[in-house]
Amino acid sequence: DGIVPFYGKHQAGIITPMQDFICMGAFDLTATSLDDVRKLFQSWTEASARLTAGKSVGDESGHSLLPPVDTGESMGLGAMRMTITFGLGPSFFDERFGLASKRPAPLVDLPHFNSDDIRKEWTGGDVVVQVCANDPQVAFHALRNLARIGRGKAVLRWVQDGFQRTSAADPKGSTPRNLLGFKDGTANPNVSDEKTADEIVWAQSSDDPAWMAGGSYMVMRRIRMRIEVWDRSTLADQESTFGRHRESGAPLGKTDEFDDLELDRKDSKGKPVIPATSHVALAHMDGKVKILRRGYSYSSGMDLKTGQLDAGLLFVCFNRDPRKQFIPMQQKLAAADQLNEYISHVGSGIFACLPGASEGGYIGDTLF
Ligand code: HEM
Repeated sequence: DGIVPFYGKHQAGIITPMQDFICMGAFDLTATSLDDVRKLFQSWTEASARLTAGKSVGDESGHSLLPPVDTGESMGLGAMRMTITFGLGPSFFDERFGLASKRPAPLVDLPHFNSDDIRKEWTGGDVVVQVCANDPQVAFHALRNLARIGRGKAVLRWVQDGFQRTSAADPKGSTPRNLLGFKDGTANPNVSDEKTADEIVWAQSSDDPAWMAGGSYMVMRRIRMRIEVWDRSTLADQESTFGRHRESGAPLGKTDEFDDLELDRKDSKGKPVIPATSHVALAHMDGKVKILRRGYSYSSGMDLKTGQLDAGLLFVCFNRDPRKQFIPMQQKLAAADQLNEYISHVGSGIFACLPGASEGGYIGDTLF
């Protein structure tokens, strides 16, 4: 399995085609000087370039009276298309490092959305690290070793793993299904088209601030699914909730997954074929507002209080300006989406994913 280059104009792991697994962690910085933060990002950059190339995190001294440099569990394993993506949360720009005036305007604190049930333990962080790979052990190894390198400068605040069907289970690479059984990702914008990616995903040099040009804003939402309730609802209810057919993924009343929604279609009684409060009808935003979704399913054991599964969607999206994209979209969904009966947003984060670094440079070198 191949190597995705770490260095480049943009960070990898944003418009990179999705890998099978994610291991995402957020850190709080305990470093007290900007110089220490800089050193941390230099070490993280160096380590990430090695790890994503399928190498260990550093050369071993071989000294038997010292702990090994690398923790070892990825020894002999391939690069597995791993990407490591770094982002800065709003709290990074408080008074600690003297960077308050550099906080990007699009990096707003997310507002409270209707029916939010956000828990502190899955929320926020000064720095996010998104590791994606086609092997869960390779991904875990990377996050673990980055945390180890950060010791004394950064502590983990939350970690969330996620998965989707593997490429081995679906060699054709059709649209993956979420844990509610529906194809998820069908209407994602085609970001292999550079113009589309520039419009929807990448902060541009004409946007403020200039140091973010080539970066992107990530929104993470840990969305728990009320799986047991969903599993008791009828197929008709489920399809009306999304506005699409379960098996084919086609818009209601159509046959092909990639047919146009045509939201103004009416049935013989004059009712919209796709309900106005269905998830796709609302999320479509009249075709005017788009985001790049890059989420994974999660399954984190069970809720001991209720005996129910703690499973759902680790929603991750990238956008050029969340004030104009994610936030109005989520406001609309939170107000009226039929899906709200079956989901609950329990974790949240917004992060400025830095521009890519070139060899010799480091992630964050346009800012600090
Ligand atoms: C479309 C599932 C949350 C934005 C869809 C589709 C499914 C789905 C099955 C239809 C297929 C597709 O185009 O991918 C879910 C589930 C969620 C969730 C299970 C929560 C657990 C969200 C959130 C947002 C969002 C929080 C953004 C705020 C979108 C968009 C589309 C979409 C933009 C495409 C709409 C279009 O056709 O233009 N989602 N979604 N979704 N979803 Fe979600």
